[in-house]
Amino acid sequence: MERFAIAIDGPAGSGKSTAAKETAKRLGMVYVDTGAMYRTVALACMRAGVSVSDEAAALSVLNRIDMRIEPEQGGQRIFLDGKDVTAEIRTPEIGKGASEVAAFRKVRERLVEIQQELARKYPVVMDGRDIGTVVLPDAELKIYLDAGVEERARRRQGELREQGKTEELSEVMEKIRQRDEADKTREHSPLRMANDAILLDSTGMSAEEVVQAILAEAEKLR
Ligand code: DC
Repeated sequence: MERFAIAIDGPAGSGKSTAAKETAKRLGMVYVDTGAMYRTVALACMRAGVSVSDEAAALSVLNRIDMRIEPEQGGQRIFLDGKDVTAEIRTPEIGKGASEVAAFRKVRERLVEIQQELARKYPVVMDGRDIGTVVLPDAELKIYLDAGVEERARRRQGELREQGKTEELSEVMEKIRQRDEADKTREHSPLRMANDAILLDSTGMSAEEVVQAILAEAEKLR
């Protein structure tokens, strides 16, 4: 049984990680970014010269690597074979690769184990796609954070700009649509809202307003 846990799921660019990180900080909980784990598996495959669509190869890479997650104040660091890859995994290519390896059942089972172990150890705010449905079905609070595709694309574009990259809005929107489609239609643990989750549409809301809305829901549980 996990300790007090908040699950935050939703599509790419819905603002999950910003909201989850900040909520964890304000409530003195530990933030766990599960997308980073799928991204790290994708990075390891790329480094090994293995295709992210080759299930057997991806699994053998996963079995070989040493992946470590270290919660830190206001975030999380992730290590691949002893090296900090927290920043390196934040590229659109690795995001796409992550979405591919995340479709493999055995990859998911292994990562879900690690995620559940973290939730037994710490009170967590965990974000991902299947947290409320599969990883922490007993989480005290489940939020499904959504936002219109154009708004999500604008946010992604802003993040890319910060990394010094420019991309057309239409291009970013198309990629987001494709990723939504892949994450929602895959066979194993597709992205979907848990029956007992609270739907929060962050379109037109500031990051602070989203955090306030989540804190208000958490407050109701006290
Ligand atoms: O949230 P993100 O962009 O870092 O996630 C990268 C990919 O990983 C996403 O397209 C789907 C997958 N993912 C998943 O299937 N389950 C999770 N709990 C988290 C991420």
